[in-house]
Amino acid sequence: MELNKNNNKPTVFSGVQPSGILHLGNYLGALVQWVEMQDQYNCIFSVVDYHAITIKQNPEELKKRIINVVKMYLASGINPEKAIIFQQSAVSAHTELAWILNCVARIADLNKMTQFKEKAGDQEKTVSVGLYDYPILMAADILLYNTDIVPVGDDQIQHVELTRTLARRFNREYGQIFKVPEVIIKKQGARIMGLDDPTKKMSKSAGSPANYIALTDSPEVATKKIMRAVTDSDSEIKYDLKKKPAIANLMTIYSLLAGLSLKELEQNYKNKGYGDFKKGLAQAISKFLTQFQIKYNSFTDEKVKQILKHGADKIRPIAEETLKNVKNKLGII
Ligand code: AMP
Ligand code: TRP
Repeated sequence: MELNKNNNKPTVFSGVQPSGILHLGNYLGALVQWVEMQDQYNCIFSVVDYHAITIKQNPEELKKRIINVVKMYLASGINPEKAIIFQQSAVSAHTELAWILNCVARIADLNKMTQFKEKAGDQEKTVSVGLYDYPILMAADILLYNTDIVPVGDDQIQHVELTRTLARRFNREYGQIFKVPEVIIKKQGARIMGLDDPTKKMSKSAGSPANYIALTDSPEVATKKIMRAVTDSDSEIKYDLKKKPAIANLMTIYSLLAGLSLKELEQNYKNKGYGDFKKGLAQAISKFLTQFQIKYNSFTDEKVKQILKHGADKIRPIAEETLKNVKNKLGII
């Protein structure tokens, strides 16, 4: 891809952590959106491995997951000829800029972060400092590439807002360097909820695998999970987020995977019950997973390593230039 200054397409940056199994929430909330942006934007998609180690990882597992996340990107339809795919730790400017931004961020900024509170729970005193500092590294990821747009699921909005605050503060205190990025989230799918509890988002760190459909689940396993998914008290197939959050969530998944509108689903399942609806949904999911997994299994580790190396080599100079300009402003030369 031509990530150069002569091409005036806006820059998009986003990433996924290689910290667990990717699920339908990641796919529908983030990856689908990335794929749609490849032609109109200069896209940079990272496997954010340094974010993953904010929680202890098994080293052998982590190695495999880094590769597998790239395979997920490719199976979703991200084309490495159009978009850059790279591993965060391969460009050392990320951690260097994170340190500098640490000195611009305030404790009060980080204390507002709801994701930290959720992740730390009652372990706030014993979780890693990295988990607390995680949004600063994310800000560094975004700001290094003069990013215009950050496509994410809705749980990341607050982190992008912090990124904007830090960019503005740095620019004000030291002089104009950083572009202030915009967040975009999908109208539908930005927050896919757990199958076992429609009040909490689908999450790879959920206690039970019944919470999510992994992109690597077999169609049989996925079908069982759907048939057991929590429903609402009556039996009508109607989209009502407030009164019927469980069915609204399942309808969102169905609509996005089958390309049917919510209205069409309501029509198709008029006078039918949850059983029929779930069968149809399970079929749509099975079809999607089968096609996704054929693609996922078609990429070799070697190919992935090549893509990662190529991606990092291509964008490292941009990151290094931003870092140099930042250091200059700070008086570090
Ligand atoms: P993570 O799995 O935390 O690395 O998230 C990767 C991307 O998926 C981010 O853009 C998240 O906002 C998005 N994401 C994660 N969980 C969900 C969900 N349940 N619904 C929609 N988007 C999600
Ligand atoms: N924090 C994001 C998540 O958990 C992942 C991430 C890291 C990211 N750096 C980023 C997303 C930069 C967008 C841009 O989902």
